[in-house]
Amino acid sequence: MPENVRTKAIAVVGAQWGDEGKGKVVDYLASSFDFTARYAGGHNAGHTVIFGDRRYVLQLVPSGILRPDKKAIIGAGAVVDPAALVGELDNLKRSGIDVRGRLFLSNRAHLIFPYHREMDKASEAALGVAKIGTTSRGIGPAYEDKMARRGIRVCEMLEPECFRAKLERVIAEKDAVSRAAYGHPLDPSGVLEQYLELAAHIRGLVTDTAVLLNGALDRGQTVLFEGAQGTMLDIDHGTYPFVTSSSATSGGAATGLGVAPTRITGVLGVTKAYTTRVGSGPFPTEMHGSDAEAVRARGNEFGAVTGRPRRCGWLDLAVLRYAKMINGIDSLAVTKLDVFDEQPEIKICTGYRLRGAPITEMPPDVETVSQVEPEYRTLPGWQKSTAGIRDVRDLPVAARDYLNFISDDLQVEIGMISTGPERDATIVPRGTKLASWI
Ligand code: GDP
Ligand code: IMO
Ligand code: MG
Repeated sequence: MPENVRTKAIAVVGAQWGDEGKGKVVDYLASSFDFTARYAGGHNAGHTVIFGDRRYVLQLVPSGILRPDKKAIIGAGAVVDPAALVGELDNLKRSGIDVRGRLFLSNRAHLIFPYHREMDKASEAALGVAKIGTTSRGIGPAYEDKMARRGIRVCEMLEPECFRAKLERVIAEKDAVSRAAYGHPLDPSGVLEQYLELAAHIRGLVTDTAVLLNGALDRGQTVLFEGAQGTMLDIDHGTYPFVTSSSATSGGAATGLGVAPTRITGVLGVTKAYTTRVGSGPFPTEMHGSDAEAVRARGNEFGAVTGRPRRCGWLDLAVLRYAKMINGIDSLAVTKLDVFDEQPEIKICTGYRLRGAPITEMPPDVETVSQVEPEYRTLPGWQKSTAGIRDVRDLPVAARDYLNFISDDLQVEIGMISTGPERDATIVPRGTKLASWI
């Protein structure tokens, strides 16, 4: 293809604290793209996709795999628990989804071991009330090892002798750390044998996914980058330390997959019509009492992976403005509009004050974020069902006003509105950038 024509490569990112509905959005869009690629995180993610009478919760495998004939990549920036991956592949197989020849795993991705899970749990227990509220999947400890340059990667798992030597060395070190820091030894029995057996299951998926992806883009094939977690959980830009350990924002797509940032042609931010957060950390617009309970019940706000109740709050435009800047959001998908169908009045946070004075920047430290006072506008609810609506003209006026308020404030188009968990409960208004991407 001519050198100056860039093939479609769109990043889908969470604009809040995760669980925005990225799985649903990616599944909807994936039919228009050749590849879907995960660039960060691991099986801490839970991406729900519902169509027909089927419900899938994808953790590490990109949601695009559910579209027959489409290809999917797990990139170098992800962390892989091979037992969890093999379990996920078994589940997909049982549901009739054949991934052979369609799913590729980076030879450079780092592995999660059982000792990472143990250390995740031990470190959370040691933090007590100050715990992060992790998913206990060993994500943080695995990324710690990667950054400390003692991680073990997928390519090494496929070389038994080298793998054995490295694993023995790392386990000895981990055992010493665990005894010293948490007062109990590690139990490494059976890990080597288990991982060598798992290697046989995933060997066929492993390749240099950067070569694969860049080659595909060179040939004019199109790619959807599937973000996991969300902007406020990003290791650099989120509410540190109450974050995950990877780059969840759009920049992570480039580093995590080995594609140049200049190849990304668009960024779709995903937000709920309100806000949720799982785990600890500041949440300025958090609802309490009956408002929170009503949204949690109507939105079924319980973790897709852990089942934990999600904390619920009003939509926070300060967070979305920040997410727009950090990710370069061109278009916004607003999900779960239907959850507000019975809400008489809807509050929306237009900005923060700190000790009475307005602030325009997201504070860097959680102490300050927990002290900000949100400023709210109250908009009328629509008190009509929007569930399953597929045309923007069929939305109640107050619902359209709510969406226009968001779009006007952020100066960003709303390219998608989701009115239910099912694939076809989706509106893509005409004339948007998003409409031109599919
Ligand atoms: P993700 O991690 O960003 O993919 O989001 P999750 O799958 O963890 O959580 C989103 C939840 O909301 C899932 O249970 C979805 O099935 C559900 N969902 C997505 N979009 C909508 C919507 O528009 N309306 C309703 N009621 N549920 C939705
Ligand atoms: P998806 O992709 C919501 C949160 C955890 C915890 C913090 C650190 O489904 O949106 P970790 O196990 O990553 O070390 O936990 O991050 N967290 C998520 N919250 N959605 C997710 O993923 C999350 N992945 C991690 O609850 O607060
Ligand atoms: Mg989720």
